[in-house]
Amino acid sequence: MIANNVIKACIFDLDGVIVDTAHYHFLAWKRLANELGIDLTIEDNERLKGVSRLDSLEIILNLRGISLPTEEKERLANKKNSWFVDYVLRMSPDEIFPGVKQLIHELKKQNIKIGLASSSKNAKTVIHLLQIENEFDAIVDGTMIRYSKPDPEIFILAASKLGVEPQHCLVFEDAEAGVEAALAAGMKCVGIGSANQLGKADIVISKTGEFNIATLQQLSTV
Ligand code: G6P
Ligand code: MG
Repeated sequence: MIANNVIKACIFDLDGVIVDTAHYHFLAWKRLANELGIDLTIEDNERLKGVSRLDSLEIILNLRGISLPTEEKERLANKKNSWFVDYVLRMSPDEIFPGVKQLIHELKKQNIKIGLASSSKNAKTVIHLLQIENEFDAIVDGTMIRYSKPDPEIFILAASKLGVEPQHCLVFEDAEAGVEAALAAGMKCVGIGSANQLGKADIVISKTGEFNIATLQQLSTV
């Protein structure tokens, strides 16, 4: 019998976990916010991580209590996205965070399935540019979900595509909303970033490439 907590699948967020596109999202949102006369700080930006495009815009507008008609919000969100896509299209495969590809290969050697769960509608473009689209056994992106993180929908869907029950899944997340979503899905979670921000995760490491099989085994026994 397999113990309840053995890890059989690892599900990776994309932006800020596999590559530093989280920074590109920040630059594009900051530029849009500046045009609206809003100063978007790094602290404010933490709340945008893992959150859908329109929900992110809403958070920014709420910083100044601005309310706008839907069409205008869509126009602004599209503008931000075109700047973001400009950054992304200049990316090369060597921008993948150090050690991430090796980690995925190590996990596969342990018969661990690999999933991607990103709220971004640009996720497939990003993994194509990084030349890693064939590394994943299942991919869920922002075009396939109704609710963005912290709702667990994205991780539940990824687990079902992988054919692995949530309790056997381990999520890698850099967003507070993403950690909450993973835990709400009944999964274990590795926070990538600072323990202040991601303290609810089972463990927090500063970089994805620092994770190793020994840590995986520890998480499988607690
Ligand atoms: C990810 C990022 C968010 C971003 C969201 C939607 O979750 O962490 O910062 O807002 O995807 O991305 P998109 O590329 O669809 O605008
Ligand atoms: Mg992220």
